[in-house]
Amino acid sequence: MARLSWAARLYIGVVVVLAAAVIIRGPFGDIRWWRNVAVLGLLLVVFESTATLLRPRQLAWSPNSSATLAAAVLLGPVGAALVGACTIFGMRRGPSLAQRLFNTGMMALSAYLAGRVFVAMGGQVGVPNATSFPKVILPFAVAAVVHAVTNHALLAGVLWLTSDRDFAGRRAPLGMSIKLIASDLGYGAFGLLIAALWSVAGLFAPVLILIPLFVARWAVAQIAEQQRAYEATVGALCQAVETKDFYTRGHSDRVSRGSVMIAREIGMRRERVEAIRYAGMLHDVGKLGVPTKVLQKTGKLTEEEYAAIQLHPMRGLDIVREIGFLDEALAGIMHHHERIDGRGYPMGLAGDEIPEFARVLAVADAFDSMTSTRSYRGARPVDEAIAELRKWSGTQFDPAFVAAFVAAIKRDGWHSPEPPVLAADELTVIAAQDHDDPGAPLRVIDSR
Ligand SMILES: [Fe+2]
Repeated sequence: MARLSWAARLYIGVVVVLAAAVIIRGPFGDIRWWRNVAVLGLLLVVFESTATLLRPRQLAWSPNSSATLAAAVLLGPVGAALVGACTIFGMRRGPSLAQRLFNTGMMALSAYLAGRVFVAMGGQVGVPNATSFPKVILPFAVAAVVHAVTNHALLAGVLWLTSDRDFAGRRAPLGMSIKLIASDLGYGAFGLLIAALWSVAGLFAPVLILIPLFVARWAVAQIAEQQRAYEATVGALCQAVETKDFYTRGHSDRVSRGSVMIAREIGMRRERVEAIRYAGMLHDVGKLGVPTKVLQKTGKLTEEEYAAIQLHPMRGLDIVREIGFLDEALAGIMHHHERIDGRGYPMGLAGDEIPEFARVLAVADAFDSMTSTRSYRGARPVDEAIAELRKWSGTQFDPAFVAAFVAAIKRDGWHSPEPPVLAADELTVIAAQDHDDPGAPLRVIDSR
């Protein structure tokens, strides 16, 4: 939210002024009412200060709707708005003043509306007791929906008006918003739990809720941390390969994208799509085990050198086989140069003997190689590369995966890389041939 347009400033201003207006109108309660506002406000500050960061980085998500919804039941609309306004005291580092003000206004307004809806639906403001159930559930549920929808609608508005276009665009946000609204509603249910516990535990009700909530959040954070460690591991290995063989810069990433396109097209399960994404990133990791002078050799290869290149799938397996999360990706890495007709390497497997991941990778790998600029030829147009894939379909490539890739490219397009701009000391290196290019197979000279 760094570059704020006048429209965004106006929007944020309106949200903040509206929030202030609903709070100032009152009515306010007695000293005990204020004490409860303070306790729930403190709960919200704790949530806000420990928010989970989402991608893109500008967004943070926290279960603070449970505090504001509890306030809607216990204190009414104005009390809920006041608790929502405590967002301003969140200790999270990062948000700018404008973001902080907007978040505060947004939380106060959505809490206020939730409180109004709760009352309008016949909900009784105050500490619920045994006779309140189950009739409090419906007003509370509707209030929680209004809270979540208001929150996300206001947020979508500010994202649309600021520079976070890719988040406010069409693809990620819809799915993400639905998930966030669903989890908001789930956490919202804790609001009713806090309110119900209040009659027994009083001010300790939030503490009793906080403990299991934080244990669950800690567990989820561990999984997210593990995911980041996976990404970092794969990223570092990729970087190492591209440092050693930099005429194929970006190749791993594009093979990964192409493989995911095929995997999605054939309806692969989500976990397998994720695994093939890793396989694409790491398919040539075995180049780390091939002597650099062979990889960078400009002329024809001797038989020994060719054999060294052919070893790279096995070397790849050796390098990453202990990385547990790669699972099926390992088979893809080891067999990505097999051919359907059995004339590939390292094992000479044929047809269905070749693991599915490897057959997918082979298509994406060859396609990216053909549509990239090489020293001995320019990048071939996408249509020409597709024709080449079709030509070798059934001999080198699995026809089903060629067809799936072509269908995905025709629908979603393909961004071929820009020709590389290389420093003078890199010029000799790019003369090496590409072992993935079906149009320019590696040539061997007999050294005997
Ligand atoms: Fe390879």
